[in-house]
Amino acid sequence: MKTIIPARLNETKDKLVILDQTLLPVEEKFLELDRREDIWEAIKKLRVRGAPAIGIAAAFGMYVCSNRIAASDVAEFKKEVLTLKEYFATSRPTAVNLFWALDRMFDRFENEEVLGKSVDEIKSAFLDESEEILREDQEMGYAIGKYGLELLKPGMGLLTHCNAGGLACSGIGTALAPMYAGQEKGYDFKIYADETRPLLQGSRLTTYELYKAGLDVTVICDNMASIVMRQGKIDAVLVGADRITANGDVINKIGTSGVAILAKEYGVPFYVLGPYSTIDMKTAKGDDVEIELRDGDEIGNGFGRRTALAEVKAYNPAFDITDHKYVTAIITEKGIVRAPYKENLTKLFRD
Ligand code: MRU
Repeated sequence: MKTIIPARLNETKDKLVILDQTLLPVEEKFLELDRREDIWEAIKKLRVRGAPAIGIAAAFGMYVCSNRIAASDVAEFKKEVLTLKEYFATSRPTAVNLFWALDRMFDRFENEEVLGKSVDEIKSAFLDESEEILREDQEMGYAIGKYGLELLKPGMGLLTHCNAGGLACSGIGTALAPMYAGQEKGYDFKIYADETRPLLQGSRLTTYELYKAGLDVTVICDNMASIVMRQGKIDAVLVGADRITANGDVINKIGTSGVAILAKEYGVPFYVLGPYSTIDMKTAKGDDVEIELRDGDEIGNGFGRRTALAEVKAYNPAFDITDHKYVTAIITEKGIVRAPYKENLTKLFRD
């Protein structure tokens, strides 16, 4: 199985390498970044995107940038690292994996500090921690793929929204992981990818990675999901998540909740696939999550083509909230969780 690594370190481990996803599917260009402003911009502008990949990029960003800090005193170094963490945390507000990865890096700092480690030793611990985050993410994709495949049968029609594949994580991703796992077993899925307005992660990224991997993928416009379900072409919907709150509400790319409501109407199971780092047990429900608002020009002047007059206002929330009542199951690397979500997610974290 060919895997994708959209954010990693370069060979000399002093730069963050990202595949610039704003240029896909036309151009595959890798950027090498070591300035905090450039890494922040790459996350903000979606050059690297998808909840787990944002976390991985931020963890490597913390390492690469802290490695350039000249301080030899641990207290002084810590102040600078904290500033760096807070700065990266302002890049995007919704995906919890960003904060999870930054906190995990900082926790590692504090553990090393308690052990009396020097600045150089802490830098080396940062390197280990960031590489471990990447490694775990790849493993989690295989586990999600295995559990997700238990819910599917050969020949099924599958619908996905946005991109929750290797490009959004590393390895084989989350929502796309069972598709790759099925391919290994010779399952002949017919996959439909919502185009995903306004930034077209579905048509630019999902079809790109699935097609390149040799899967049968068809792009549809977002507003065609209803007719393809009505025509019986869809047996299951598989999506990723930027955050799953304690009650099982799912925050994912704008348009996801509409697909979930349609799926319920047409009796199609709606599965959400994500690593445990996407589950935010500290937040009670979806409405408590900050929804990123992006520039209206992404709608009215998307990809440099004006489709609404510049004078017309545009409202551009990047994510929406799918109420847990529409979610058939949540699939994590630890297994399949079904309603009641509050109880069963709590149990997942306890076990
Ligand atoms: O704005 P994006 O492209 O970062 O949004 C990505 C999504 O909404 C994905 O579906 C989500 O992060 C899950 S990725 C495994």
